Amino acid sequence: MKILIAEDQAISREVLVKMLSGLCQIEAFGSGQEALKAFEVAFEKSEPFQMMILDVSMPGMSGIDLLKAIRAYEHKKDLPKEDRAKTLMFTSYADKDTVISCYRAGCDDYAIKPFNRKVIVEKIKKFGFTIESDSHNEAEGGQEESKEKTMGQMVSDAIADFKRGKIDIPALPNIVQELQDIISSPNASVTDMAKIIENDTAISIKLIIAANSPFYKGVEKTKDVKMAINRLGLDVTQSIVAAIANKGLYETKNASIKSLMDKIWMHSFANAHCAREIAKKVSSMGYEKAYVKGLIHDVGATLLIKNIGDNTPQNADININELINAVFEVHASFGGVLFNKWNFSKDFVNVATLHEWNRYNEKTEQEILIVNLADFLSYKIGYGFFNKEITEISEIESASLLGLTENDITIICEKAEKTVEEASEAFAKF
Ligand SMILES: [Fe+2]
Ligand SMILES: [Fe+2]
Repeated sequence: MKILIAEDQAISREVLVKMLSGLCQIEAFGSGQEALKAFEVAFEKSEPFQMMILDVSMPGMSGIDLLKAIRAYEHKKDLPKEDRAKTLMFTSYADKDTVISCYRAGCDDYAIKPFNRKVIVEKIKKFGFTIESDSHNEAEGGQEESKEKTMGQMVSDAIADFKRGKIDIPALPNIVQELQDIISSPNASVTDMAKIIENDTAISIKLIIAANSPFYKGVEKTKDVKMAINRLGLDVTQSIVAAIANKGLYETKNASIKSLMDKIWMHSFANAHCAREIAKKVSSMGYEKAYVKGLIHDVGATLLIKNIGDNTPQNADININELINAVFEVHASFGGVLFNKWNFSKDFVNVATLHEWNRYNEKTEQEILIVNLADFLSYKIGYGFFNKEITEISEIESASLLGLTENDITIICEKAEKTVEEASEAFAKF
């Protein structure tokens, strides 16, 4: 039996291939276009794929567009309906519209990410296929498989709980949007901004502490919120408050994931600083806006990991590697869902949802390109989070679409690396 896989994210593709190895013949592709080509070539050679596993959300040609193209091709070749390649679609966060679109395009079944071996095997059998010997996976040890299932399952359960409203989504980051609204208005004033910040005593105190930290401190000691805003300016104050407000999301009582939460905080903080430096170089928009987007881009991952930590006993054996791979598969779309629920503007939703794509075009919003590039650079300067390989600058599409040369990027990295190190001190105690 031959299965075609289309999944744009390399980490997720590897997870899936590894999961299915030994079960059947697999060919995996990173884009809809490549998958379509391979499907047609195999058909022409009379070695067709019997089944397909397609990721719905892919840049360029989505899984749904790919399936439509394949169904059209099968139709052109007069293939009877029962001989069409059976198709399983994977979506990160099943909303009704997406599922309807999948069925309209001609899928046979769908499942929700993260990938789960047991679910896929069940679907293969449901489609009427028999699987080859499973000796490879058995030899690797059933223990590994059961952990893998647990991590994937834990992530799915956490998403389901958020969806059902069983988990309260922290309201803290609302202040980020409120301050952005103030700054965007032409009459933005120190008084307006101070009013919002002073509503939250904890944030006000932390802002004053941060304003007096070695990185931000002035000649005179900052004593109140207004004084901090007057000295730092509206933009810098906004980014400090955003960092303070977000930092709370990274707290955990579970010691097993404490270092993971610290790591994703530093990754987000580094992304913010890289985004700010990139925006200074290329953008007409306020660079603090880019900073805030960088800071929150992985909030989907943060809240999923935090929730799993909160619901796992202290001494439980958490397989960190499998946890972050499972979270990786869903964090971007889940982040988009969170910002929608928080009633944040569309630009936040888009950055969260699309920042991991590896293909963009001239129409892509600049903020998405900036955060995508900032993500690569944060890995480069030593603050990576997921199991991603460091990518060559020449291969990063967002860098070329932003018109940045390798030399520009080297300078951006140097500046960001220095400020991340120095500025992180200001937030270390919060
Ligand atoms: Fe991400
Ligand atoms: Fe990231």
